[in-house]
Amino acid sequence: MTSLLLTPIALVRRHLLGPLRSDRSPLEGRRVVITGASSGIGEASAYAVARRGARVELVARRDEELQRVVAAIRADGGQASAHAVDLTDAGAVEGLVEELLAEGPVDYLVNNAGRSIRRSLELSADRMHDFERTMAINYFAPVRLTMGLLPAMREQRFGHVVNVVTWGVQMKAPKFAAYIASKAALDTFARIAGREAWEDNVTFTNIRFGLVRTPMVAPTEAYAKAPAETPEQAAAKVVRALEDRPLTINTVAGSLGEVFNLVAPRLSDRLFAAFDKRFPDSAAARR
Ligand SMILES: NC(=O)c1ccc[n+]([C@@H]2O[C@H](COP(=O)([O-])OP(=O)(O)OC[C@H]3O[C@@H](n4cnc5c(N)ncnc54)[C@H](OP(=O)(O)O)[C@@H]3O)[C@@H](O)[C@H]2O)c1
Repeated sequence: MTSLLLTPIALVRRHLLGPLRSDRSPLEGRRVVITGASSGIGEASAYAVARRGARVELVARRDEELQRVVAAIRADGGQASAHAVDLTDAGAVEGLVEELLAEGPVDYLVNNAGRSIRRSLELSADRMHDFERTMAINYFAPVRLTMGLLPAMREQRFGHVVNVVTWGVQMKAPKFAAYIASKAALDTFARIAGREAWEDNVTFTNIRFGLVRTPMVAPTEAYAKAPAETPEQAAAKVVRALEDRPLTINTVAGSLGEVFNLVAPRLSDRLFAAFDKRFPDSAAARR
């Protein structure tokens, strides 16, 4: 009962006053798994988290890229190791979980690996695989990895999982049905998992990023001149999610989009339909 009361009090205090700050990061000496650490947001997050004194376990498919990141972290005095795994391969994820747990429980997991597809439904009629492959990497992969690591987190009564999702889950932007639906599934999974694991001090953050300038967005011409965060700015948000453990990290535009969708859904549809027309499919999407 006391712990039931103390947790909301601590949360209210934290919400009103902000987290207690000290020179030491809560990540110091902890084990942090980051997926998709071979490029973009995941790579920048790996450097940032290692600089906070954590031991970073990097996961992605391209071993040579992971080795490059590990070497850079070690050269900077940090601790890191690489796990070359295709996260859409269920057996490989089970092997990864075993390998990670053989060295003890993981304290933090960043589910960042993912893929985006921007393609209108009109061009998707014969492309069920777009829906399947986005679900495979953006939903089933992080759920499988989380489910593998969660029991040990609950047992040690500490753990935090950060999911890298998108402001699209709030906006519901046209041409992103496959991608955003898979991220929305993960966003919802985390909210429910957070409720079930609450008593065991295992928490979840969904970061709903706006545009970040990474290799993922390069093929989309419409984004070439759009304002975007750098991977380093995105990594700072990942560090904040790990250290402060908020429920969500949103952008102002994403939050406004969410409210707009709630209070004026039809007007919102109309505006997004106009937006859809204004920005056609890219050359890459037409291939
Ligand atoms: N960039 C944006 O504007 C933006 C906005 C909102 C959310 N996000 C999300 O941010 C996350 C990171 O994306 P990014 O922008 O940094 O793009 P990125 O540079 O393309 O990074 C994607 C990462 O995912 C890994 N990955 C992809 N498929 C994988 C698989 N089957 N198994 C293991 N790893 C896999 C890639 O590594 P390998 O190729 O080596 O496997 C790579 O490290 C994604 O979840 C994305 O949806 C991005």
